[in-house]
Amino acid sequence: MKNIVVVATGGTIAGIGEKGKTVAYHAGEISVDDILKSIPNVAKLANIREVQLLNVDSNEMNENSWLTLVKTINCLIEQQNVDGIVVTHGTDTIEETAYFLNLCVHSEKPVVMTGAMRPATATSADGPYNLYQAISLAASAEAIAQGVMVLFSNTIYSGRDIQKVNNYKIDAFDQKSFGCLGYMQDEHVYFFSKTFKHHTLHSIFSKNLPNELPKVAIAYFYAGADASILDYLSSSNEGIIIAGSGNGNYSKEWMEKIESNSKKGIVFVRASRVPLGIVFNDHIFDPHEYCIAANTLSAQKARILLSLALSYTHDRKKIKEIFEEY
Ligand code: SIN
Repeated sequence: MKNIVVVATGGTIAGIGEKGKTVAYHAGEISVDDILKSIPNVAKLANIREVQLLNVDSNEMNENSWLTLVKTINCLIEQQNVDGIVVTHGTDTIEETAYFLNLCVHSEKPVVMTGAMRPATATSADGPYNLYQAISLAASAEAIAQGVMVLFSNTIYSGRDIQKVNNYKIDAFDQKSFGCLGYMQDEHVYFFSKTFKHHTLHSIFSKNLPNELPKVAIAYFYAGADASILDYLSSSNEGIIIAGSGNGNYSKEWMEKIESNSKKGIVFVRASRVPLGIVFNDHIFDPHEYCIAANTLSAQKARILLSLALSYTHDRKKIKEIFEEY
């Protein structure tokens, strides 16, 4: 049997509330040991070791917890008697942690994240089944070299593209227009596609983890949005992601502030507040290329890539290439 380590960080999968109810609960309360004990036949999937790293609501995750998590994973995964890692996590920010790990884990061994939309005390809690499948996926030979994945509701998603699209249903995720990487039926794994973007061992960031992540903020554009927010954010951040309208667009007033703050060294990236599509570099809209296109990344994922990129270089041309490759 394969050796799988489950690293627990909290979330609704470890949440408790009134017995049977699906709402009004506290996330990050029970131990991963208790969750594992509630799963029939889980010991038949792999030899399982547990690490209770954190037990928090995922809205408490931040750059420091990401760095602690990736260092823990990199340390475990290089051990010969570890074949794969499962990370339990809250669903609210799982897409951010998954992309960070996808860029920073230094191994081709499977790393699979999972969580739950219903607390452990709910009728038909979804956590135990998701965790059962995540362990099985992490133990599967087909999951090697696929990048960091998220397993949720019988579906395998890529850490780069997964996004939360429903804040209520248990089938809460998709992978933009890219479908999914595959499906699972109980413990059986079926892959159908793969991501072509750099990840894990082929990511420059996995070879050289920063001790601290440069500060990057997100500015949300809307009709009539006050551009002075960009001066404010530029005073305390090295980079700013614009969650623009349509194809990462904004007003002339925002354009002027982006230009003046770019000249002071702040790096700007254009993502879109629209969940599907792609933001291209646009020589008509932004002829001097003050704003780098985020490609298909959401603003919150672009923020992670820009922060890692700024820990590596401040050369805009190089950062533009990074946004094309990752
Ligand atoms: C959280 O993200 O920790 C709370 C919500 C959830 O896990 O679904």
